Amino acid sequence: MSYPYQITSLEQYKADYKKSVEEPEAFWGNIAENFQWRKKWNKVLDWNFREPKVEWFQGAKLNITENCIDRHLATMGDKPAIIWEPNNPEERVRIVTYNRLHKRVCQFAQVLKNNGVKKGDRVCIYMGMVPELAYAVLGCARIGAIHSVIFGGFSAQSIADRLYDAQAEFIVTCDGAYRGNKDIPLKSVIDDALIGNRTVKKVIVYTRTRTPVSMLKGRDVWWEDEMEHAEHQVEQNGVVSFPAEEMDAEDPLFILYTSGSTGKPKGVVHSSAGYMLWTNYTFVNVFQYKPGDVHFCTADIGWITGHSYILYGPLSAGGTSLMFEGIPTWPDAGRFWDIVDKHKVNILYTAPTAIRSLMGFGLEPLKGKDLSSLKILGTVGEPINEEAWHWYDEHVGKGKCPIVDTWWQTETGGCLISNMAGVTPAKPSWATLPMPGVQPILVDEKGEEVTEADEDGIIKGNLCIKAPWPAILRTTYGDHERCRQNYFATYENLYFTGDGALKDADGNFRITGRVDDVLNVSGHRIGTAEVENALNMHAGVVESAVVGYPHDVKGQGIYAYVIYGHMHNNDEELTRKDILQTVTRVIGPIAKPDKIQFVSGLPKTRSGKIMRRILRKIAEGETGSLGDTSTLLDPAVVDEIVKGKL
Ligand code: WTA
Repeated sequence: MSYPYQITSLEQYKADYKKSVEEPEAFWGNIAENFQWRKKWNKVLDWNFREPKVEWFQGAKLNITENCIDRHLATMGDKPAIIWEPNNPEERVRIVTYNRLHKRVCQFAQVLKNNGVKKGDRVCIYMGMVPELAYAVLGCARIGAIHSVIFGGFSAQSIADRLYDAQAEFIVTCDGAYRGNKDIPLKSVIDDALIGNRTVKKVIVYTRTRTPVSMLKGRDVWWEDEMEHAEHQVEQNGVVSFPAEEMDAEDPLFILYTSGSTGKPKGVVHSSAGYMLWTNYTFVNVFQYKPGDVHFCTADIGWITGHSYILYGPLSAGGTSLMFEGIPTWPDAGRFWDIVDKHKVNILYTAPTAIRSLMGFGLEPLKGKDLSSLKILGTVGEPINEEAWHWYDEHVGKGKCPIVDTWWQTETGGCLISNMAGVTPAKPSWATLPMPGVQPILVDEKGEEVTEADEDGIIKGNLCIKAPWPAILRTTYGDHERCRQNYFATYENLYFTGDGALKDADGNFRITGRVDDVLNVSGHRIGTAEVENALNMHAGVVESAVVGYPHDVKGQGIYAYVIYGHMHNNDEELTRKDILQTVTRVIGPIAKPDKIQFVSGLPKTRSGKIMRRILRKIAEGETGSLGDTSTLLDPAVVDEIVKGKL
């Protein structure tokens, strides 16, 4: 595999960037020639941000799995596609070659077909990080079913909401998942999610932990039985085949739910061709991937980072992707370093929160670990503070590995702003330059471009993008208007990211964090409104307001102000725990507030709007600069809240 579109110098980056902006159709049309199509496009790009409508490679036909698997078989069939490191380091490593991946994906596609799944059907996947998860995702793509992967940390209620929103008819899950010293009973969570559900017809259960599960006749089937049966269907005389469904370039590939500033999570929809191109292009360029490199992205496939940089990006490039089932701190805080050493990892891509958490264990866990295979390091998910950046650089990269700080979102499909390892310059805590095809702009509240810099030459504003790149979201599932409202209505003719950013005189960007009511806790997106809804469901909670505050390890912590009715037990600590139970039930453990302060009132304007600005300041400990509180209905409530601050 070679990548003629791999950028290898700053000059080339500049030239490619210029071309991508001036002649996007010629630029991307040219790159698209490096992929396998059943039929080529009539037109490269057609778009407007009004509706919005974005179509890349109109009229083209393809199947992404032929690009991720089949086209590599002739030359790389025996090369590892996935190296799987189990939760327990004593357990056997599994190496999935491209040949094996092909066979398993064909088999699983056949299983889906046998169970009645058709092109366009939604299949919900709720599994741990096992290779079978990759087979399930790619099996869906092979038959043109739309996968919707749900992270294992979400509750039954969250799953039920997502199943309903997507009108999913099929589920693939595991009996359980291993994470550190815990076994998480996934199937039983699914059973709870299915109480009252009328759309789901089949649940396919892979056995990983062999925890006892209830299997309903007619609905639940075992993965192993189904796969065994399908094996005879897809393999004849040693030749494996399952014809891939021919997909339109714009056919949806998957839905991934993510939190916004209002209401329930939205199902972000990505297309087939544009997403494929973008994850491949950014993978090859940002990480400067060279054939044979072992790429270790530590994300979970339940998040976009796992979709794009464990599966689609690396596999479409014929790469070797390391998939890790466990967590960085088990059996001890040296686990990542053991994995790097054991598998001779070349590229390590993780989140600042993981780096900060590992920093907390000092240098002991790094001792005796051979990290010399590392060439490139990356971070994603939240702004990286300089201290973490330098620690990563010095102690992990030993000062010789470029660090790429990749800024992007579920909605963007892949990296939009990032340096390219060793090719374009890094700047600690700055994501730096846009990828070719990405045109960022900083605007003020009114949507006017900010051009005035401060005395240091820095421009500050809300980050928008002017034109579509191939992997921009196409819609939010089942509700296109919501997509327009959320991303394209704040500022006319711009995609609004929800992030604030700085730009220096050299054109580098630094993302400062969300400017809307979305929190970023340990790199996970959580909407304050979602957490408030969950809190308000707790009997006894009258009203609540949730804000973020700086947290040393998580980046942001969740601070909840709660007005509580009668506390019959008079035990605040116990009541807090009860409330956390409710949040865990409604959303999942990842949304549990770090702090719950009981208050008698919330600062509201005369029109009844909660003044979050004030609550945020208090949570941040900046009580000296609360600003004007005179417009509040009851200014005294602020003093009370300040006094009771946790
Ligand atoms: C934040 C994760 C600063 C940002 C891929 C964005 C970042 C949100 C960075 C999307 C970065 C992501 N520097 N902030 N390098 N990367 N973010 O959808 O606030 O889970 O809007 O996608 O994470 O989170 P999501």
